[in-house]
Amino acid sequence: MKIALVGFGKMGHMLASAAERRGHEIVLTADPSAADASVKSTSPAEIAGAVTASGVQGIIEFTHPSSVLGNIRALLPTGIPLVVGTTGWNDSVPEIKALAEESRGYLLHSANFSLGVNLFYRIVAEAARLFAEFDEYDEAVFEAHHNKKADSPSGTALEIASVILRNCPRKTEVVTGPFDRPPRQEELHVASLRVGAVPGTHTVVFDSVPDTIELTHRARSREGLALGAVRGLEWLVSAAGSRTPGLFTMDDVFADM
Ligand SMILES: NC(=O)c1ccc[n+]([C@@H]2O[C@H](COP(=O)([O-])OP(=O)(O)OC[C@H]3O[C@@H](n4cnc5c(N)ncnc54)[C@H](O)[C@@H]3O)[C@@H](O)[C@H]2O)c1
Repeated sequence: MKIALVGFGKMGHMLASAAERRGHEIVLTADPSAADASVKSTSPAEIAGAVTASGVQGIIEFTHPSSVLGNIRALLPTGIPLVVGTTGWNDSVPEIKALAEESRGYLLHSANFSLGVNLFYRIVAEAARLFAEFDEYDEAVFEAHHNKKADSPSGTALEIASVILRNCPRKTEVVTGPFDRPPRQEELHVASLRVGAVPGTHTVVFDSVPDTIELTHRARSREGLALGAVRGLEWLVSAAGSRTPGLFTMDDVFADM
């Protein structure tokens, strides 16, 4: 299929390779600061116009938390299936869901497109259900990423936290900032570290007086993320032929695997 990439930074270039390896063609790349991008505008309306004129069947958006909402608002009404990997817009999900339904658009979003992380969510859900039975345990989430990452905590860490909240009733609230008092039992602490070139590490800790159990997902490279996003777009384009418009997540993709 013909694909447009909005955002042609580190992930954009990996997406291009992953898409080409799967037999797709990148016909447009939009990025104001990438020398090799075909469209240099920062205007979402101009980008949407160029994408429509290019005749693509799918769009993948990996830009910046400050650009993503403008891009989604302009790209959804084109009616071209849109995969969004940019993180940092969790609070706007209800608004974007309403826009997708109203404009009859198809949007697949995930804070993490890797197969391993999506399996990790399921392992954490099961572990949280087990530990929920035992009040002597306390839970926390820790994540580490490279020092170029713009948002913290990572969208993946927030998704892991919401998996724990859904499966362990003693935790009802996520705290991401520093504490100036001891945490309350119902608070789930999510801590972040930014250093060097770490592609992404997420650890869930179940701690009690006698022992600690840690579950860790450690990404080795970001290629798995790019491949997952391309496969996500392939799924979304076929879903657009059979499902009602709206917002989709990797859970929908896995349900069909
Ligand atoms: N969902 C996932 O699986 C996943 C995986 C990796 C990264 N990410 C997220 O993807 C985003 C991009 O990551 P990256 O490592 O490629 O960053 P990057 O900084 O290497 O690239 C982002 C590019 O977007 C461009 N950009 C900014 N505003 C734009 C706009 N309005 N229109 C077009 N291009 C614009 C920038 O010029 C830059 O080249 C980040 O939010 C990151 O957290 C998500």
